[in-house]
Amino acid sequence: MKFFLDSAMTDEIKHALEMWDIDGVTTNPRHVQVSGKPFMNVIMEIADIFAGTDKPISVEVNPHLDDWREMVAEGKKLAALSPNFVIKLPAGEAGFKAVFELAAADIKSNLTLVFSAAQALQAMRMGAAYVSPFIGWKESNGEEIIHFIDEVTTIRNNFGFDTEIIVAAARNARQITNAAVSGADIVTAGMPVFKDSFDHPYTDVGLGKFQSFWDDTPYE
Ligand code: E4P
Repeated sequence: MKFFLDSAMTDEIKHALEMWDIDGVTTNPRHVQVSGKPFMNVIMEIADIFAGTDKPISVEVNPHLDDWREMVAEGKKLAALSPNFVIKLPAGEAGFKAVFELAAADIKSNLTLVFSAAQALQAMRMGAAYVSPFIGWKESNGEEIIHFIDEVTTIRNNFGFDTEIIVAAARNARQITNAAVSGADIVTAGMPVFKDSFDHPYTDVGLGKFQSFWDDTPYE
């Protein structure tokens, strides 16, 4: 399973690449705003970090666009800037059509803000390279997520779509595990979520105990 870092902070991205060998990055307008840098500057800095690799970087089109032709035009402009860029488009009729046109131009897209399996299905039909079911937001809204991820992966597998499933907005180790068990290809999460998922309080407790035994035992 692949891990993408959901961030536009270049220090976080560099750390996650060096220490965790992350497989890609997803950005969104919130992450770019948090970076404190202009959109173009930050996406090009991320592109530089991944230059020479085949790791994808999702960059989102202007979220105010509601015309598929404008989405395609912006997608083509962004895709020309880096071979790593994947064009992030909102689920919806215009976004789906834009995916179709970008796929025809050999440009990869990632359908974002996906909250139903039917939306994921249409993204796959239209040629999306990636589809991002947002599980964290859904669960915060009181909706179940395990069946949701299962449905999306089952649909993809039933029909042999090439689309990779990015389980997005994962908030904890349990959700990362749910995504992996369901057979999703990728999970994207923020740095604190991954960091927490690599730890367990009992690991620390156990290490402390082993250190005591070690200290009480002669080495030779
Ligand atoms: C995924 O591609 C999105 O960028 C992300 O998961 C959105 O959720 P968040 O910013 O609330 O984590």
